[in-house]
Amino acid sequence: MTDWTAGYVADIAYTYGYYKELNPLRIKLAFLNQGFVFPEVGNACELGFGQGLSTNLHASASVVSWHGTDFNPTQAGFAQEMSRSSGNSAKLSDESFLDFAKRDDLPAFDYIGLHGIWSWISDENRRVIVDFVKVKLKVGGVLYISYNTLPGWSAFAPMRHLMVEHAHVLGTEGRGIVSRVEGAMEFATKLLQTNPAFSRANPQVGDKLAQMKAHNRQYLAHEYFNADFHPMHFATMAGWLEDAKLQFVCSAEYFDHVDTLNLTNEQLAFLEEIPDAMFRESVRDFMTNQQFRKDYWVRGARSLSPFETSETMRTQQVILTTHRRDVALTVNSRMGEANLSAEVYGPVLDVLADHKVKTIQQIEDALRDQGISYDKIVEAIMMLVGLGHVSPVNNEEDIAQAKKTTDSVNAYLCKKAFGSNDINYVASPVIGGGFMLGRLFQIFLASIMDGKKQPADFASYTWEILAKQGQKLIKDGQSLDTEEDNLKELKAMAKEFSEKTLPILKALKVI
Ligand SMILES: C[S@@+](CC[C@H](N)C(=O)[O-])C[C@H]1O[C@@H](n2cnc3c(N)ncnc32)[C@H](O)[C@@H]1O
Repeated sequence: MTDWTAGYVADIAYTYGYYKELNPLRIKLAFLNQGFVFPEVGNACELGFGQGLSTNLHASASVVSWHGTDFNPTQAGFAQEMSRSSGNSAKLSDESFLDFAKRDDLPAFDYIGLHGIWSWISDENRRVIVDFVKVKLKVGGVLYISYNTLPGWSAFAPMRHLMVEHAHVLGTEGRGIVSRVEGAMEFATKLLQTNPAFSRANPQVGDKLAQMKAHNRQYLAHEYFNADFHPMHFATMAGWLEDAKLQFVCSAEYFDHVDTLNLTNEQLAFLEEIPDAMFRESVRDFMTNQQFRKDYWVRGARSLSPFETSETMRTQQVILTTHRRDVALTVNSRMGEANLSAEVYGPVLDVLADHKVKTIQQIEDALRDQGISYDKIVEAIMMLVGLGHVSPVNNEEDIAQAKKTTDSVNAYLCKKAFGSNDINYVASPVIGGGFMLGRLFQIFLASIMDGKKQPADFASYTWEILAKQGQKLIKDGQSLDTEEDNLKELKAMAKEFSEKTLPILKALKVI
C-alpha cells in the first residue's frame, strides 16, 4: 500500500457509479417541498469523485462550473479523460482533500457535494472537509452529504470489523485485496454456521452478509475494507457541521419526503409530539432503522412563506423518464410493500405520459376537473422523483447550451460500451445529469449516431461489434450460440428500444 492513501483502499479502482443525488438541479424541488429558499448553482464542487462519472455527467449536462478532486490518480486520470472527451469545463484533480483545501485559486461554491466519503475517512480528514466547507461554501450555499448511519449499522458494524481484522491478520497482502475480501467473507460465513450468540442476538447479520456477497468486489473493497469506517448518529453529524454554520434542511432522498408511506400513523403522531426538529430526525432514524443518510444542509436556512413556496413550486418543470406502462404503483417503502393511490398517480402519470416537459401548474390545470389537489400532485411528484420515474428539468437556455457537451460525452460513452459494460449511463441536458442505459442500448444509440435508422440495422451493427470480441447474448440463463439466434434476439431488443426507450432519449435530448 502506498503512503498517500491514509489507509484508504487504493489497490483496486472504484466502480463507475453515478449518483443522481449529486445533481444540483434536484435541490430546488426538495427545498421547496420543505418551504426553504434554494440557491441558484453557478459553481459546484465534488469531493472524492471516485471515477468522476457523476461530476462529468453533471458538468456535461448543465452550465454549472464544476471543480473536484479524488486522490486516486488512476481514477482522476479517467475522470480527466472523460472531461476532455466531452469538452466540459470541469476542473478535476488528484489532490488529497488537504492539498485541495490549501489551493488559493478555487472560487466560492454554491454547492459542495460528497457521496460515500464521510464514513470512510479519518477524523483528521473530516476536520479538513468541514474547514473547507466553512471557507468555501457561500452564504445560502448547499452541502449534499451522505454517510453510514446509526442505529442502522449497529448490528453489522462488529462483523465488518472482524472481517477487516481477518483480512489484515490472515489475508495475504501479495494476493491482492479481492482475495482478502473473498477470504474474509468465507470466514464470516463459516463463523455464522457455528450459530454464535452474536448472530442469535442480531439475526439480520446473516442476511446482510448474503447481500454483501452479491456485490461486486471492487465496491466491497472500498465500502467495507478501509482502515476507517465510522457510521454516525445524525446528531453527531449535526455537531460536526455546526462549525461550518450549516443547518439541516431535508433528505436528498425524495422518497423520504413522503412520510405517510414510510411511517405508521402511530409513529407520525409520536414524531409530531417532539418539538425539536433535529431531535425528531434522530428519532425518525430509529423508526426506519436508518443505515445510510443522504442529506442537504445549508449555510443559513431561510423560510419562504406558504404563498411564495406554492407559487415557486408551480413553476417547477418536470419530465417523465420511464415509459408510462413501466411505472409500477406497488413500491417498497420503509414499512414494506405499499400501494400508491391509482386515483392520484394514474392521472398524474397520464398527463406526463407524452414525455413533454410540464410545470406543476400545468399538471394542476390538467387535473383540476378530477379534483386532485395541489398537495396531492406535489406529493406524487416527490414520490415519482424518489422512485426515479420523474426528474426536475433544466431551463431552456441551459439545455440548448449543454447539448453540445452531452452529445460529445454520449458519443464517448457509447463507444466505450463497444468494449465494456462498466458505465451504464448517458447524459441528458434536459435533466442536467445521467440517464441509465445498458450496454446494448448504448451500442444501439451509437448505431444511430453512425446514421443507422431501422431497428434491424441497430441489431446487425451491434452483432458485428459483439462477434468481433467472441461475445454472445445470454437468454434465460443460456448462451445463444448461433449468429441467427443472436441476431433474432438483438432485433427483438432493438424493436423494444425503438418503441419505448428511443422516444424518451429524444425527449431528454440525449439524441
Ligand atoms: C467510497 S469512494 C466514493 C467515490 C464516489 N464519491 C462515489 O460515490 O462513487 C471514496 C473515494 O474517496 C477518495 N478519497 C478517500 N480519501 C481521500 C482523501 N483524503 N483525499 C481525496 N480523495 C479521497 C477515494 O479515492 C475514493 O475514490
